[in-house]
Amino acid sequence: MPRIAQETVEQVAAASDIVAVITSYFPLKRAGTEFRALCPFHQERTPSFFVNPSKQSYYCHGCGAGGAVFQFLMQYENIDFPEAVRRLASRAGIAIIEDELSAEEESKQSLRKRLLRLHFETAAWFHQNLLRTKAAARARSYLQSRGINIETAKRWQIGYAPKTWDSFVQWATAAGFVKEELIESGLIKLREEGNPRSRIYDRFRDRLMFPIHNDFGEVIAFSGRVLEPKAPGGKYINSPETPLFSKGNLLFGLHQSKRFIANLRQAIILEGQVDLITTFESGIQNVVAPQGTALTARQASLLRRFADEVILFFDADAAGQKAAERALEVLFGAGLQVRIGEMPAGEDPDSLIRTSGSEAFRARVESAEDFFDFQIRRNLSATESKTTAGRVGFARKMARFISIVPDLVLRETLISRLAVRLTIPRETLLQMVHLSIRQLQDRTFEEEVVTSQFSLPRHDLAVICKAALIFPDLLRAIRQQPWDSILTQVAGAELLSKICASPLEPGEPASIAAFFASLSKEEAAALSLLLAKKELNEQMGHLFWNKLVSAELQRRKRRIENVLRLAGENPAAQQQASEELKEILDLESSFTDISRLPSRAS
Ligand code: UTP
Ligand code: MN
Repeated sequence: MPRIAQETVEQVAAASDIVAVITSYFPLKRAGTEFRALCPFHQERTPSFFVNPSKQSYYCHGCGAGGAVFQFLMQYENIDFPEAVRRLASRAGIAIIEDELSAEEESKQSLRKRLLRLHFETAAWFHQNLLRTKAAARARSYLQSRGINIETAKRWQIGYAPKTWDSFVQWATAAGFVKEELIESGLIKLREEGNPRSRIYDRFRDRLMFPIHNDFGEVIAFSGRVLEPKAPGGKYINSPETPLFSKGNLLFGLHQSKRFIANLRQAIILEGQVDLITTFESGIQNVVAPQGTALTARQASLLRRFADEVILFFDADAAGQKAAERALEVLFGAGLQVRIGEMPAGEDPDSLIRTSGSEAFRARVESAEDFFDFQIRRNLSATESKTTAGRVGFARKMARFISIVPDLVLRETLISRLAVRLTIPRETLLQMVHLSIRQLQDRTFEEEVVTSQFSLPRHDLAVICKAALIFPDLLRAIRQQPWDSILTQVAGAELLSKICASPLEPGEPASIAAFFASLSKEEAAALSLLLAKKELNEQMGHLFWNKLVSAELQRRKRRIENVLRLAGENPAAQQQASEELKEILDLESSFTDISRLPSRAS
């Protein structure tokens, strides 16, 4: 790793006033010679986070977080020291000087850096295509038809991917990028999937290109919209998961909107890129959009850094309602308050703003109701609300949502308010919430497990399941391997497969709660029983996983040996068996020994 020269670090520190840096994230209030705020690193009601301008340091009396401006960035942005120095340097316009020794190593840039460079240049190339080339005439007129002018296209660096198989490959190669980088970037595809020696072609062809930025403003992926409605591959195609891009970690537009969100402590969640751009450009700027998938716990906690409250706009159709339900769990789980916005039938924010102006949408933002009020108005029918039984039944549904809210004070407030609205005793509602919390936390349900058809997975699978829910590195390591090729033939591995295939993030209570919600009652009960059992460590998870993989590979090899023996002189059967054997050996070679990966604890 190149080392940043000490003089650069000192120069950057001198140029980065801690008060100015922190206020670019959230407001600080003066308190004597210091400044104070609610601590961003833990939940609290009264501010115990202090910033001292003369010492150029911060400290939280509540959770003990503290340090200088670099530590603040490291903690807040979840980055390492060199990255914190780089970001502050670029903010202050200071050039980074790297130590002599590392200058030689400059060529050995990390993959991440090369991919960032590739995305940065690619965004510019797509953009130039859109602005300058004849081939993009159709794309330009399409943009115009959607009311997006050149200034907006420039601000969002919208681009065009040509209607050919290899324009991008040609350009990128001429620009000095190598095949391995292009493969890693996901901007190209392989003729034969999974075979890096096969020929490559452009993933995005004849599409309007939207660069996707991380919240710091680096381009890390693309989303391409069709121009030709009948073109294959869906209305939008996104970059696949890459070392830079993980769909569930990212909110489209956040790099532009975060300061507006932080100022208002409120975020409006929209569905797509076009909605977001139109809304932002019309002056409603505290907006974000997940990339056309259900909101993840990671996205919710990203938002929580800037907002206390979100407003959801989802389609009124069944799919939209379902998406909203899932979103609610992660949003409440992250400690956000939720308001529900309603759209006229058949409109999205983009179309509403185009036809009726931004004021029409703003009015809908302002009239967005608190989630619980909205539920009461929409779902508590007139007859239900008249009977106590009806109101209690409804209260039970709501108690489930309240039980996900981690903040005690907020939870209490919600309980009181809902009790008043439903005219049921506060105590009754409180009990319902506590019941629901218990069910969430330790659904021990032992009777249910016994009486249900679903039995606990066998011991080694159970250990891996549990460890995978707790240790992010373990689950990440398993997910990086062809786990599904192994697990498809392992009896009783359904639960583990579900864990691997889900967007679940180990150790994040909100994410685990959302995962629970996706399981059947039996599976959820079995899993909570597992979680309730005694402690285990990460190494055990790695160990059992490695054992499972090698046992399964052994089993398959033995089976082939038997087949070969039985095949005798039959050449077709021999051929078949040796092909299968080759597949198994290929699979085997794709496993790295994960027990040697660093564990979180060390
Ligand atoms: P919509 O289908 O609602 O489209 O998808 P939209 O945003 O209104 O798009 P326009 O106005 O027709 O251009 C909402 C979001 O879901 C994701 C995209 O992020 C899109 O913006 N999506 C949609 C995909 O990822 N793939 C698709 O095939 C469709
Ligand atoms: Mn639309």
